[in-house]
Amino acid sequence: MSSGRWIDYAGRLEKAGADALELNVFVIPVAMKMGHHFTGMANIFKALSDEGADWLVLFNRFYRPDVDIENFRVIPAKVFSVPQEITLPLQWIAILSPMLKCDLAATTGVHNSGGLIKQLLVEAKAVQVCSALYQNGIGHIRTLISCLQNWMERHNFNRIEDFRGMLSQENIENPEVFHRSQYIKALVGIA
Ligand SMILES: Cc1cc2nc3c(=O)[nH]c(=O)nc-3n(C[C@H](O)[C@H](O)[C@H](O)COP(=O)(O)O)c2cc1C
Repeated sequence: MSSGRWIDYAGRLEKAGADALELNVFVIPVAMKMGHHFTGMANIFKALSDEGADWLVLFNRFYRPDVDIENFRVIPAKVFSVPQEITLPLQWIAILSPMLKCDLAATTGVHNSGGLIKQLLVEAKAVQVCSALYQNGIGHIRTLISCLQNWMERHNFNRIEDFRGMLSQENIENPEVFHRSQYIKALVGIA
C-alpha cells in the first residue's frame, strides 16, 4: 500500500538473484496471484490485464479447514496439494491465455514433469511448484527439468516455444472441450 521497507527488501531479493517478484496483494500490477472464487472471473482477470498487470498467477490454493468427526474439532485439511488439482488452473489458463494481454503463471497441482508439460502446452509462461518441493526436496527441480528435456527430445522439440500453447483453447480443433460442464460424453463407454 505504501512505499516502505518492502522496496528495500525487493532490491535485496533482486541482488540475491531473483528474476521476478510476485506480490500477494491486490493493488500493484506486477504479478497478481489470484484465487478462483470470483464472480465473473474471466472479466476480473481481463480487467486486471487491461489495467497493466504484467502477470496473473492462477490459482492460489488457500488454507482449508476440515472436521475431525471423532474429536469434534475443526482441524487443518491437507496442507499439500495432490496432482489431480492441476485441472482447474489448466482449464483456465487454456481459456484465458488467448484472451489476456498479460502472461500467465500456473500454480497448484504441478508435482511432476507431466504437470509441468501440461501447463506449458496450454500456454502457461511460468510454472510454479510448491507442495512437490516440500515433499521431495529442492533437488526435485532438477528431476523436473531433465524429464522435460527427455520429453522434448522424444517429441523433437528444441525450444519450449516450439510447443508452448499448442493446446490452448484457440489452438485446438474442438475448443468447446474446455467449456464442457456435463459428464455425458465422458460416461460413454463406462459400463
Ligand atoms: C506450507 C505452505 C505455505 C504457503 N504459503 C503461501 C504464502 O505465504 N503465500 C502464497 O501466496 N501462497 C502460499 N502457499 C501456496 C503455494 O504458493 C501454492 O500456490 C500452492 O501450494 C499450490 O501450489 P502446489 O500445488 O505446487 O503446492 C503456501 C503453500 C504451502 C504448502
